[in-house]
Amino acid sequence: MKGMDLRTVPLRSVLSFHPIQWGGRKERSFYELGEVIMSTHTINGVTLELLQGDIVKVQADAIVNAANTWLAGGSGVDGAIHRAGGTEIMAECRKIGGCPTGSAVATTAGKLKAKYVFHAVGPIYSGSDEDEWLLKSAYQTCLALAEQHKLESMAFPSLSTGVYGYPLDLAAPVALGTIIEHIRKPTSLRRVTMVLFGDSAYRAYEQALARLLARS
Ligand code: APR
Repeated sequence: MKGMDLRTVPLRSVLSFHPIQWGGRKERSFYELGEVIMSTHTINGVTLELLQGDIVKVQADAIVNAANTWLAGGSGVDGAIHRAGGTEIMAECRKIGGCPTGSAVATTAGKLKAKYVFHAVGPIYSGSDEDEWLLKSAYQTCLALAEQHKLESMAFPSLSTGVYGYPLDLAAPVALGTIIEHIRKPTSLRRVTMVLFGDSAYRAYEQALARLLARS
């Protein structure tokens, strides 16, 4: 239990963020939808959230993109971020030119309500030993970028588990284990959100988190 201050709300809670209930302060809620499925856990004073939804609707200092090595845009998270963020992000990606697998680069966030987009390149799943450390390294680089920019909040998608084919049940413990390992150490971060697209992704992360927390 070293370094753990663990408070866990019921694993599956349905919260409402209705602008009317919030006195019209819709822009202040960190997710722009009527209803949110999420669970929150406090580890070492940092809130770790699992949220089911669309990452472009999440408000955080940095939003992580599931990018490719050419930073050329694509479908899934990449498509959603470039559509919502506008052309400014792609212009900056072109200037940077690329990013190796297992790493990440920062750009501004264009029209998104974030300070930065971190473009992380996860591995294309191959079933080899390399997959896990490349995936871990992509998360670690984003967390290091957050520290470098002294950010308080960031939101991750489930890297590599869409077009890149990484099985959700294998990716979830790597993603969450890396984040937990990071936030147990001194950090500028106060909130890290894993944004899961759809029910099966949310469930895979919920189960992985329960196992990781039971072990520690
Ligand atoms: N918000 C949150 N999660 C999303 C969203 C969204 N708007 N859209 C898709 N996802 C989920 C997917 O269901 C999947 O679980 O994000 C996870 C990652 O999926 P992808 O976006 O396909 O990313 P990845 O598997 O890392 O593949 C990257 O896909 O779009 C291309 O340019 C990208 O070549 C790169 C590759």
